Amino acid sequence: MNINWYPGHMKKSTDKIKESLKLVDVVAELVDARIPISSRNPKIQELLENKPHMIIMNKRDLSDPRENERWKAYFKNRGMETMLVDALHDRGSDKLYNTALLQLKDLMERKEEKNIINKEIRMMIVGIPNVGKSTFINNIARRRGTKVGDRPGVTRINQWIKTEDNIVLLDTPGVLWPKFESEEVGLNLAFTGAIRDEIMDVETLAFRFVKKIMSIDPQVFERRYGIKALEDPVEIMDAIALKRGAILKGKEIDYFKVSNIILNEYRAGLLGAITLERIEDL
Ligand code: G4P
Repeated sequence: MNINWYPGHMKKSTDKIKESLKLVDVVAELVDARIPISSRNPKIQELLENKPHMIIMNKRDLSDPRENERWKAYFKNRGMETMLVDALHDRGSDKLYNTALLQLKDLMERKEEKNIINKEIRMMIVGIPNVGKSTFINNIARRRGTKVGDRPGVTRINQWIKTEDNIVLLDTPGVLWPKFESEEVGLNLAFTGAIRDEIMDVETLAFRFVKKIMSIDPQVFERRYGIKALEDPVEIMDAIALKRGAILKGKEIDYFKVSNIILNEYRAGLLGAITLERIEDL
């Protein structure tokens, strides 16, 4: 795996988070519900210096509801509050955010052991690229309308978005860098599109993806592409290529094309709501 997160970027984003931390009471960490561990940065606890923090599992629409519940229980058992959202489609559902944000307030109150119900709470969103930070923030901003505006001690570009019950959200998210602790993590990030197809050529990536899906639910490709039941990933890719016309001159399989079809359709949710990372894999 030949991916490196440029150290300069890493430092810049860490500094920025540290600076913003001074301004907020609580941090909400967004993760991709399809890969709840791979889409976290294991250094986050250190970075947040004991700030209360909760996990927002985003992309609920793309992940398996049963696995979502299991992951929620997993985090809860480790003392972390979670909420499950679909930042792209939950627009207008005030109730969801309000419940979640109130839960957050409750969490803080318990941690800090003081009454903060009537106090304004400042919150920041953090997460690795592509987990949906901007979508989440825009969603809240759109519904809540007006921004609160610049505040003292905040750089000019930082604005606050008022949500419910005295909760204000910093409009610029903290970008964490993905951590490639194992090949598995790198692959998960690439499968979901969190890192673009840069860790390996797209054909190998799609091959590994097909193999992985077959271990989770062997009927996914039959259902989506109407191919017959097959076990070998290359045969599956060939069958999909034939169905989708990914054929080169001379009747050779166009592996580049079929690989992109498979990965893009997974990322768009067209293969179904499939969670790639399971608790038992840990
Ligand atoms: P970021 O700020 O954390 O980097 O993420 P951003 O909001 O830009 O979201 C990344 C992609 O994920 C966007 O797709 C966005 O629409 C999508 N997304 C965010 N939340 C959800 C969700 O809950 N469900 C679904 N289905 N998609 C979500 P994009 O604009 O197509 O960008 P890209 O994937 O082509 O980069």
